[in-house]
Amino acid sequence: MRHLMSPLDFTTEELEQLFTLATDIEHNMPKYANACKGKILATCFYEPSTRTRLSFESAMLNLGGSVIGFSDANSSSASKGESVSDTIRVISCFANICAMRHPKEGAPMVAASKSSIPVINAGDGGHQHPTQTLTDLMTIRSLKGDIKDFTIGLCGDLKFGRTVHSLINALMRYPNINFVFISPPELKVPSYIKEQLKERKIPYKQVISLDEVMPELDFLYMTRVQRERFFNEEDYVRLKDFYILDKNKMENAKKDMLVLHPLPRVNEISVEVDEDPRAAYFKQVQYGVYVRMALILTLLEIEV
Ligand code: NCD
Repeated sequence: MRHLMSPLDFTTEELEQLFTLATDIEHNMPKYANACKGKILATCFYEPSTRTRLSFESAMLNLGGSVIGFSDANSSSASKGESVSDTIRVISCFANICAMRHPKEGAPMVAASKSSIPVINAGDGGHQHPTQTLTDLMTIRSLKGDIKDFTIGLCGDLKFGRTVHSLINALMRYPNINFVFISPPELKVPSYIKEQLKERKIPYKQVISLDEVMPELDFLYMTRVQRERFFNEEDYVRLKDFYILDKNKMENAKKDMLVLHPLPRVNEISVEVDEDPRAAYFKQVQYGVYVRMALILTLLEIEV
């Protein structure tokens, strides 16, 4: 039985199979409509989410399966003091597969070690968010044709942003990718990630100014400054509007640069950018459903 804790749990060949399946799903949805008939997905969300949880639920419903779960730790037995290890043992009796989001780093891993059903890490604290990364890679592969030979700028909260950490980890394995980290000094990429890049001799640079690097980028991955991970409100208020991508800034970008964002957006992308053909963040949400459908089929070992 397999779980998904980090994007590195799949080899690049396995990821390629997953994306091929997701692309087939995109073009032949009806073929998959009953693939998970009789199967149940449990979504155990101890932290707020709209997209990720509903994306999983939509994925399972599209496959003809059913969904149970909770979307708030207060409405689960965690509020009575139950451990995730016990919760997952119980959920294993009710469902065939579980997607878990938790504010504590490593909690889905603890659950997986006690689980008799596949567990998917749907985001653990500031650590990893592998299914967002599958979504991001699928978007890049679908819109660009392959995953190689590009410069990606990651902008915003690179310290707490788990989507960023997972995406860098995953992209390290693809050929000829240049990283540009754009953040205020307080929200830089953690040093353990930079060490990994250095070890692999992967080029990266760190800058504060988005304008300065805009013309070099093939992808711009914008992120939200994560209020819930700050210890004090003052720091959050000072940093929250540090970057605002607007029409003006887009003028300096390549004609075929693509803007990605895991969403939710707060102020970091002005709504006027939504009309720009280079804005790919809503398409990205759609790819997220296909790739989660492919993931559920793969982990349940269902062939269509
Ligand atoms: C992200 C997350 O939860 O880490 N959102 C998501 O899952 N699509 C990013 C964020 O909350 O800013």
